[in-house]
Amino acid sequence: MGIEAKLRVLKERSEATEMGGGAARIEKHHASGRLTARERIAILLDEGSFTEIDRFVVHRCTSFGMDQEKIPGDGVVCGFGTIENRLVYLFAQDFTVFGGSLSETHAAKIVKIMDMALKNGAPVIGLNDSGGARIQEGVQSLAGYADIFLRNVQASGVIPQISAIMGPCAGGAVYSPAITDFICMVKNSSYMFITGPEVIRTVTHEEVSKEELGGAMTHNSISGCAQFAGADDEECLLQIRELLSFMPLNNMEEPPLKECTDDLQRCEVSLKHIVPDNPNIPYDMKEVIRAVVDDSHLFEVHEHFARNLVICFARLNGRPVGIVANQPNVLAGALDVDASIKGARFVRFCDAFNIPLVIFEDVPGFLPGVNQELGGIIRHGAKLLYAMAEATVPKITVITRKAYGGAYCVMNSRHIRGDYSMAFPAAEIAVMGPEGAVSIIHRAEMARNGNSDGHRQALVADYREKFANPYNAAELGYVDEVIDPVCTRPKLIRALEMCRNKRDSNPPRKHGNIPL
Ligand code: HXC
Repeated sequence: MGIEAKLRVLKERSEATEMGGGAARIEKHHASGRLTARERIAILLDEGSFTEIDRFVVHRCTSFGMDQEKIPGDGVVCGFGTIENRLVYLFAQDFTVFGGSLSETHAAKIVKIMDMALKNGAPVIGLNDSGGARIQEGVQSLAGYADIFLRNVQASGVIPQISAIMGPCAGGAVYSPAITDFICMVKNSSYMFITGPEVIRTVTHEEVSKEELGGAMTHNSISGCAQFAGADDEECLLQIRELLSFMPLNNMEEPPLKECTDDLQRCEVSLKHIVPDNPNIPYDMKEVIRAVVDDSHLFEVHEHFARNLVICFARLNGRPVGIVANQPNVLAGALDVDASIKGARFVRFCDAFNIPLVIFEDVPGFLPGVNQELGGIIRHGAKLLYAMAEATVPKITVITRKAYGGAYCVMNSRHIRGDYSMAFPAAEIAVMGPEGAVSIIHRAEMARNGNSDGHRQALVADYREKFANPYNAAELGYVDEVIDPVCTRPKLIRALEMCRNKRDSNPPRKHGNIPL
């Protein structure tokens, strides 16, 4: 056979792989509102940048008549390409081939690109759409999962790993995403569970729909297992493109710089009034963040979960930062179990990938309550404390109002290696709020005065005057600067610039033992 004929064979064989499980299954897949693996890749990557690897791989299973049905690619499209001209590796499971289920060879393809990504220092993106372990294969597919899990762990903190859940993902198909850095789901067409509604009905007799059990909003707002929810496949994929724009390709690089067209000296008059004078009136911390960051653009992570803490990426002078901010609009910004877990994981991601942290603080303390105590607020709150103290990236704090109690220590105080701390003039930095403090330290005195309201108010006012301000902390050097809120943006940019060459490290050890 001459070269022309050989090229024709290559073309025919290649084209055959494009059809996955065949036209009928593709039609059914589209009818469920989902795109095919290849259509997803076309949206995710820069046009024409995709190189496919292992497109002719087939499974080796001979049981259950499987030797009669070998589909090239074996249910997963793997390769590399670029997003905004930066290298990424990816795999996209093809639900039209054996329900995207994971066989020995399907797993080997994923393992291959994970190994390449780790060796060459670029992110791995997994587009998951899989019924889990290939049932016809048995233990080989379980071994394949374990091979992937091991690589997920080895790559953690070295290269970013991002998972999209774009269909029903059951069993083993959810544990690899769970180890990765971020999970993006698609509303109304993606599900994650270890065991589905049928099994639950049989074992525990509970009735639950798959949407309630493992839909995008369940995992975004209740379980906290997913950080993003897209309206459809396209929105989910575009979210991943933007998410990647804030992170370096690996832990040895700095995050990518974007040209900044916003005024570095921009003073924002609105900041004078966003934080109300009355300390009991809530406000939206996102308004403060928007007033400060480049182009007022923030990219929120875990938007629907633990809304009393806002975490987001943004840029200051074109440099990506990770922002952790108490949200006075929800639970008065108090830290609870979910917020502590949410914040801790984000801080560790930013620290692993050299993304400086900016903390906006307005926190009355840890949330009191039986539920919280029995739910383990001690060990979960300790996660945030541990993560903040452990982080060695530049860490800047802006105290907009309350910094009370243990939460003062946790929210990147100077004492746990915060690099620079600024406070608005209305900041209140003390062991606890004036009302609570007076109830405890003046209990006997108030009783002697018949617990009169007037006397109580006088004591509260006295405490507020003495402690509910930033100057005690400033006198001790715990706050570096008390600033005019209007100037927050230029002040923050200057502080970050000051820490640009920061070098800090933790003692050598196998690994720390963060309370899990
Ligand atoms: C082989 C599978 C499969 C699987 C689906 N298919 N899951 N083939 N192994 N795990 C095939 C179906 O036979 C069907 O083939 C096609 O994929 C589409 O499946 P449907 O059921 O028609 O689709 P749908 O109605 O959308 O339901 C999707 C689903 C369901 C919810 C994922 O298929 C399902 O429940 N599958 C089994 C899930 C499961 O229990 N997996 C094993 C988990 S245990 P045809 O030829 O008809 O198109 C596990 C252990 C690992 O993963 C643990 C590691 C820690």
